[in-house]
Amino acid sequence: MDSPSKLARFLESCQRRIEAVLSDEIKQCEACHSLQEAMAYACLGGGKRVRPVLVYGVNQALGGDIVDADQPAAAVEFIHSYSLVHDDLPAMDDDDLRRGKATTHIAFNEAVAILAGDALQSLAFTVLARTSPSRPARAQLMQIQTLAAAVGANGMAGGQCLDFRATGSQSSLQALEALHRLKTGALIRASVLLGAHSVAGVTNRQLEDFKRYADCIGLAFQIQDDILDVTGDTESLGKPQGSDRHNDKITYVSLLGLEQAKSKASKLTDNAVSALSNFSSEADLLRELATFITNRAN
Ligand code: IPE
Ligand code: IPE
Ligand code: MG
Ligand code: MG
Ligand code: MG
Repeated sequence: MDSPSKLARFLESCQRRIEAVLSDEIKQCEACHSLQEAMAYACLGGGKRVRPVLVYGVNQALGGDIVDADQPAAAVEFIHSYSLVHDDLPAMDDDDLRRGKATTHIAFNEAVAILAGDALQSLAFTVLARTSPSRPARAQLMQIQTLAAAVGANGMAGGQCLDFRATGSQSSLQALEALHRLKTGALIRASVLLGAHSVAGVTNRQLEDFKRYADCIGLAFQIQDDILDVTGDTESLGKPQGSDRHNDKITYVSLLGLEQAKSKASKLTDNAVSALSNFSSEADLLRELATFITNRAN
């Protein structure tokens, strides 16, 4: 059997690492047992952990101390998990399967799912704002500002609302791209930037390169998600295949067709790799990650 690639090993080690950080944090949310249970259910033991991997990957590309990436990595995954819990609610995509198990509102109930999402969002900022001697206050403030902007009305929540409003209506490619950049791209960009701000001495030029990289992989990520909704199967996706069509969503595939959607994603991957041309081998994992994002099967 082939030995796992460097990327596969990195993914695995990040997945293991973030699982422990998330679990430790949720253990402290003990005031209401069923809320704590729902938070753990929504966050632990599943998911690809792409956003934490990006935080860790950028931290490592800049030669940072991985410990300084734990809090930002946990924060983005808490936000992401919350966004999935709410995305699956009957008022939104109304899906009953997520990460291979019943969605949180099915396993618990809608009220608990809504509150678990709320509490996960708050937990993300609690973790990110916690001080530690190795994290300079200015960089930490940048991280908090970056994440807050990415999650709100001009980020993920705004994108989700545009997505909901676009259902069943005509949409231009330009409008769809703007929507994707908010609903998915904003948190992916924030993950990359949080990773960058976890390392002292990151330069403005490096930040600009990372932003271009992040914008390409962020859009590619959602295009591939749209493609998989058509080409994937429910078992490997761990979520219902065909949900977009069922909900009459405007997606890259519905607007462009499968082949053009694939070629757009692959062009974006090339652009992501080009954005890192000022880096040498230290950014190889990030380059491979860009390819992984458009080739992934779930
Ligand atoms: C799914 O995200 C929702 C989108 C933003 C497309 P992921 O594909 O990262 O889901 P998990 O975390 O691996 O379950
Ligand atoms: C959701 O997009 C993006 C979020 C902000 C959660 P989708 O609705 O396409 O995500 P999936 O396909 O349900 O994972
Ligand atoms: Mg949705
Ligand atoms: Mg959905
Ligand atoms: Mg989708």
